[in-house]
Amino acid sequence: MTSNVTPFRNIKHVSLLWADPERAAELAALHARLFSPAWDEASITSSLEHPAATSLVAVAGNPKVIVGFILGQLVADEAEILSIGVAPDWQRAGLGKMLVEGLARASKRGEAKRLFLDVAEDNAAALALYRKLGFSEVGRRQRYYVSSDGSAIDALMLALDL
Ligand SMILES: CC(C)(COP(=O)(O)OP(=O)(O)OC[C@H]1O[C@@H](n2cnc3c(N)ncnc32)[C@H](O)[C@@H]1OP(=O)(O)O)[C@@H](O)C(=O)NCCC(=O)NCCS
Repeated sequence: MTSNVTPFRNIKHVSLLWADPERAAELAALHARLFSPAWDEASITSSLEHPAATSLVAVAGNPKVIVGFILGQLVADEAEILSIGVAPDWQRAGLGKMLVEGLARASKRGEAKRLFLDVAEDNAAALALYRKLGFSEVGRRQRYYVSSDGSAIDALMLALDL
C-alpha cells in the first residue's frame, strides 16, 4: 500500500514490525526510491521468504505505511544486513539507527555473535550511521559496486560485535 500523506515525522510514532512477504510490493516501491539498481518485488519476496530471513519494517501513520526497512539474514552465529533504507522524508530522524538496533537485538536473541554488512565506500550517510553505532571495518571488496556513471566503487565490509 502506498500513500501520499507523510505521517507526522516523529519516531515515537513509528513501530518496528517483522517484514511480511505480503508487503513486498510496498517495500520494492520504497527500495526503488533509494537504490539504483533497485531490488524488484520478486527479489524482495524471496529474501523475506528465505528461512534465514530476519527483516524488519518501520511503519507510521494511519493507514500504516512503510517508512523504513532493514533486510537481514541470520546464519549460525553470524547475522548480515542485506539492505537498509529510510524514506527520504523520514531521513535524519533516528530511524536508520532504530532499524539497525532492532535487527541487532533480534539477531542477538537468535544467538548471533556478530552483525556484518557491505557498504559503498562513498556512501557517507550510511558510513556515518554505522560508525556511530560502533561498526568497524573488517575488509574491502574491490570494485564491488557500479555507480550511476558506470564507475566502480569498492565495498567496505563492516562488523559489529553483538
Ligand atoms: C543510510 C540511511 C539508512 C540512514 O538513515 P537515517 O534514518 O537518515 O539515519 P539516522 O537518522 O538514524 O541517523 C543516525 C546518525 O547517522 C549519521 N547520519 C545519518 N545520515 C547522515 C547524513 N546524510 N550525513 C551525515 N551523517 C548522517 C548521523 O550521525 C546521524 O545522527 P544525527 O542525525 O544525530 O547526527 C538513509 O540515509 C538511507 O536510506 N539512505 C539511502 C539508502 C542507503 O544508502 N542505504 C545504506 C546502504 S549500505
